[in-house]
Amino acid sequence: MVSNTSIEPLENDQLIFQKTAPAELTVVLPTYNESENVPLVVELLDKALAGVVWEVIVVDDNSPDGTSQVTADIAQNDPRVRIIQRIGRRGLSGACIEGMLASSARYVAVMDADLQHDESLLPKMLDALRSQHYDICVASRHVEGGDVGTGLSSVRAWGSNLANNLARKFLKVELSDPMSGFFMLRRDKFVELAPNLSSQGFKIMLDIVASGKGALRIKELPFVFRERQHGESKLDTLVTMDYLGLLVSKVFNDVISVRFLMYSMVGGTGVVVHLIALKFLLILFALPFGVAQLFATFVAMTSNFFLNNRLTYRDRRLKGAAWIRGLFTFYVICSFGILANVGVAELIYTNKPVWWFAGAAGAIMGAVWNYVVSNALTWRKG
Ligand code: GDD
Ligand code: MN
Repeated sequence: MVSNTSIEPLENDQLIFQKTAPAELTVVLPTYNESENVPLVVELLDKALAGVVWEVIVVDDNSPDGTSQVTADIAQNDPRVRIIQRIGRRGLSGACIEGMLASSARYVAVMDADLQHDESLLPKMLDALRSQHYDICVASRHVEGGDVGTGLSSVRAWGSNLANNLARKFLKVELSDPMSGFFMLRRDKFVELAPNLSSQGFKIMLDIVASGKGALRIKELPFVFRERQHGESKLDTLVTMDYLGLLVSKVFNDVISVRFLMYSMVGGTGVVVHLIALKFLLILFALPFGVAQLFATFVAMTSNFFLNNRLTYRDRRLKGAAWIRGLFTFYVICSFGILANVGVAELIYTNKPVWWFAGAAGAIMGAVWNYVVSNALTWRKG
């Protein structure tokens, strides 16, 4: 809806035509429902970055709480503040990438907009980069002097530890806090790596460092992760799967997309759901096998749809009527997927009767079909 409130014309003497010094540092703040926090963060940045020419770019995914408007209001009185309002898109990594690409400063930083990251670290990060000895500076919650504080629940802390160990083992990334979302780097280095980054997920810093393949000179600085004061965390436990997706995709050198990997992992859970449902239907309702198998297939498809909608396509999540429409297209697509699977397997088997080869080829064919078609139809863009 377009609002009718008229806008007061600016008086001439209110307009100051002045060329300001270009920013040396851009701070990118990704936001989703942070309207209460953004004004506080800007105030804190102003204090912490005294003596630095800086700007802030808030990248807001059209938050229902009006974060974009709140930011635009601040920007009316403060030209250091800019807003990128994204419509029809969701996702932390993508938001950070867009914000950094909108900068033309020498250095760019990414920081949470919820006051959990300690802004007083920014001048120290900037000094480290200005020394020319480092390309990226990461704020770490685990190096000596640092602390996870009380900002992270114990389950999250455990998951976080596990993720750190996996990153070290598989990506050969030597970071004490690879999950950190608080960092600063040279913009030229970022622009170089940007085409290789995944806009899916939330591990943007890890993605940057892993994509650098050991070439980035890293400085780590400790800080205490503060507790959230306003609003709530958007990262639920399901994002762990998203993290595993990034890990596997990087191990395979980006040949397989993170989205396809997530889709396949969901498919894997579908097999388990199917077998449990089948057993349940056979025992509890004593259904004939064919009927039980049919019902189990529907249970598994529904659970796959639900998980894909929550996870693989969290940035295009379907709701309400679109959810129901999506579910039905998904049933239809998967049914054809089964035909593709069986057809291909049979074709191969008649030419080369090796059961596991024909079986696997059919299953892969079915999975690729389901992915490509549901990507285009069920969760189509915009
Ligand atoms: N634009 C945009 N789009 N911003 C988002 C989205 C999104 O889909 N999801 C979250 N954000 C913003 C939040 O508004 C906040 O400013 C910041 O990203 C971090 O989100 P939180 O929801 O507060 O994350 P957290 O505190 O649970 O997680 C923190 O710790 C993780 C490690 O455990 C973050 O720093 C993560 O980056 C970090 O990996
Ligand atoms: Mn947070």
